[in-house]
Amino acid sequence: MVEEVPKIVVEPPGPKAKKLLERDSAVISPSYVRFYPLVVDRARGSVIVDVDGNKYVDLNSGLAVMNVGHNHPKVMEAVKKQLERFVHYSNTDFYYDTSVMLAEKLVQIVPGEKRKKVYFGNSGTEAVEASLKLARWYTKRQYIIAFIGGFHGRTFGSLSLTSSKPVQRAGFSPLLPCVIHVPYPNPYRNPFGTKDPEEVSQRCLAYIEDYVFNKFVPPEEVAAIVFEPIQGEGGYVVPPDSFFPGLRKLADQHGILLISDEVQAGMGRTGKWWAIEHFGIVPDIITSAKALGGGFPLGAMISTEEIMSWPGGSHASTFGGNPVSCAASLATISVIEEEGLLERASKLGNEIMKRLKEMMERHPLIGDVRGKGLMIGVELVKNRRTGEPAKKEASEVMLRSWKSGVAMITAGVSSLRIAPPLNIPEEYVWKALDIIEEKIGQVEREKGISN
Ligand SMILES: Cc1ncc(COP(=O)(O)O)c(C=O)c1O
Repeated sequence: MVEEVPKIVVEPPGPKAKKLLERDSAVISPSYVRFYPLVVDRARGSVIVDVDGNKYVDLNSGLAVMNVGHNHPKVMEAVKKQLERFVHYSNTDFYYDTSVMLAEKLVQIVPGEKRKKVYFGNSGTEAVEASLKLARWYTKRQYIIAFIGGFHGRTFGSLSLTSSKPVQRAGFSPLLPCVIHVPYPNPYRNPFGTKDPEEVSQRCLAYIEDYVFNKFVPPEEVAAIVFEPIQGEGGYVVPPDSFFPGLRKLADQHGILLISDEVQAGMGRTGKWWAIEHFGIVPDIITSAKALGGGFPLGAMISTEEIMSWPGGSHASTFGGNPVSCAASLATISVIEEEGLLERASKLGNEIMKRLKEMMERHPLIGDVRGKGLMIGVELVKNRRTGEPAKKEASEVMLRSWKSGVAMITAGVSSLRIAPPLNIPEEYVWKALDIIEEKIGQVEREKGISN
């Protein structure tokens, strides 16, 4: 029996939440973007309870972090055990077993036959920074290619790759030199005016060759191409099947490294450990964070032993590979294996996609449904023919869903992102989708959006 969720006892934000919001705005940096005023008191599994006692279905897993749900007993147990042993002893200066055990596990579950090594940091942006430094160090080349719409973090190196929203870069330049942005193969929205996935894929590959390599960037000076295998913040965008094999070929021709940023898409979210596995290629470097630490801060960069051969002192971080985070990570990986959550993410993801596509037939506000496993985007448009993004409408659907007990957020300009814990009870999913459909219908009627 699953408990009754969602359950709204006082219209959110309730009185206790409002008090906290006031205190927050007095002392917390205004640079954070809050999707809506949800003030979390506690969370278990796929349920969040706010300070006023409202219960929500968590459709975003705390920003794609809680892949095995909140406070999974096995993860909590592993954390408690590690807390009793010790909390910190700088892994960049000394040794302990939890980081070694985790690295041994990670090298087993990343694709590719070559021997691998792991660098540990604390976050996604640090994993990306590490990958940029390693790529430059190994290739002795300067240029990096990244994709428009990509999000890779907010510290200077990774921010130089990020190209998701202008506000993220405004006022911070000059950023890293020698970073070139190229179009991402977005089958629904691209600069080439086509919706044919194969054509999008070929045009994006040709752009790199014809407009970048043949016009202004000597390919022998390019260290790496960094990409999200499925764009996250950019709108949960899934590239056509042929794109990454084509990119691998192009990179190999010129000795360029491929860096798959799996900070959001990795750790089983898409039904495979790493999203790049859906496309059948092996990248040279994988970056991971978010769900990696099972809710604790942890980032990792995984590469081959040959590439990760930089000398002692070249890169490190005091807290990187914190033993409590590593223990939580190991337990999270075990839970994913023991509970068969990769298979579950694929199966449930397919059923949700089917349901959303049926919803799309009834609702003209839905322009596109796409995803892999439990990383699903629903792009809202004002008009299917013109594809004009329904930005305000997407926010409105998100906000109203939250007020009815569904914690879901948006991505890109006007997409709803569905990314629940991989072990979410099905009952919650169907209830949440009913609520979302009701809100979509309301917004359509109010805004006069019809076929
Ligand atoms: C693909 C990707 N890379 C990097 C990052 C940055 O991670 P963090 O916020 O942990 O620095 C994010 C965060 O959303 C991300 O989605």
